[in-house]
Amino acid sequence: MCHFSGIVLSLLTVLFISFDIRLTVSYKPVVIIHGVITGNVSMSTISSRILAHHPGTELHITDRFAGWASLAPMWHQVNEIGKDVMNISAAHPEGIHLIGYSQGGLIGRAILEAFPQHNVHTFISLSSPQAGQYGTQFLHLFFPSLACRTAYELFYSTVGQHTSVGNYWNDPHHQGLYFNYSRFLPYVNGERRSGNGSSYKAGVARLRRMVLIGGPDDGVITPWQSSHFGYFNEMEDVIDFRERSAYVDDLFGLKTLDEQRKLKVITVNGVNHLSWHRNISVIDKYIVPFLD
Ligand SMILES: *[C@@H]1O[C@H](CO)[C@@H](O)[C@H](O)[C@H]1NC(C)=O
Ligand SMILES: *[C@@H]1O[C@H](CO)[C@@H](O)[C@H](O)[C@H]1NC(C)=O
Ligand SMILES: *[C@@H]1O[C@H](CO)[C@@H](O)[C@H](O)[C@H]1NC(C)=O
Ligand SMILES: *[C@@H]1O[C@H](CO)[C@@H](O)[C@H](O)[C@H]1NC(C)=O
Ligand SMILES: *[C@@H]1O[C@H](CO)[C@@H](O)[C@H](O)[C@H]1NC(C)=O
Repeated sequence: MCHFSGIVLSLLTVLFISFDIRLTVSYKPVVIIHGVITGNVSMSTISSRILAHHPGTELHITDRFAGWASLAPMWHQVNEIGKDVMNISAAHPEGIHLIGYSQGGLIGRAILEAFPQHNVHTFISLSSPQAGQYGTQFLHLFFPSLACRTAYELFYSTVGQHTSVGNYWNDPHHQGLYFNYSRFLPYVNGERRSGNGSSYKAGVARLRRMVLIGGPDDGVITPWQSSHFGYFNEMEDVIDFRERSAYVDDLFGLKTLDEQRKLKVITVNGVNHLSWHRNISVIDKYIVPFLD
């Protein structure tokens, strides 16, 4: 009898262990895209917090376009990293999650649009210039004397469009040039259609959840509301994303997500741009809980 219950106990133990393993491996894989001028190592705080809360999660931090290579044109980065994301997608029919920090969040969103057959469940944009950028703080790293007012002369040119930053430079005082020259942002934001008229709406609308994180103490993303798809008008007043035509006319699926309660817009005070991806409370409160 004693022996028998011993066997039952070991059987139960085996069952519990396998149940436990099943739980452990049930988190969806997470793909992470780093910001400009950095690389995969900069995202290690996020990956270690994910593993601390969700042990066993399969993590992929892209090692493409690290350092200076991160200034390569956006479409090139979107296509290369996008192929990797699709490959990971294909290996995980149960779905994956995608996180992008700073420029990486804009690359991530464009991947969703350019590869609409993706199976990303949750997409998290961590302080990314989703509606564009009109501030030179971080640019002084590589263009020391660049002034905001005149930067358009550099960026809205054939040469300027060979840089990622030129591709999302959005000068509120030169919208005509922006529409004529920018090869990237007006397309992914649905403000311009490519020659064949294809729309990038399907890939965003397909998400189960989009999380937009940003805040007023960012100091680099200008206006900071660009992290929530808000942007300057010609007077440099910031227009809330829900009042801009990209949303109102649902040009790329944002309104669709919002109406289905799949859009989370999060504002966090007290975080500088270079701290978002290293701030444990931000990661634990606003990133990890969405990676279910
Ligand atoms: C970063 O990329 C390098 C080069 O591919 C790789 O050797 C390293 O393991 C990666 N580190 C992390 C934390 O992903
Ligand atoms: C695609 O993913 C598989 C694993 O699922 C891997 O073996 C292969 O090397 C990947 N291919 C590319 C081009 O990354
Ligand atoms: C933009 O292109 C259109 C069509 O070529 C042209 O008529 C317009 O003057 C251009 N605008 C600017 C600001 O360059
Ligand atoms: C339309 O053009 C875009 C950008 O050039 C391209 O990525 C897309 O595959 C094209 N779609 C079709 C249906 O040809
Ligand atoms: C970390 O984030 C919290 C908000 O969750 C913020 O109050 C704090 O100032 C941040 N700390 C740093 C060093 O950025």
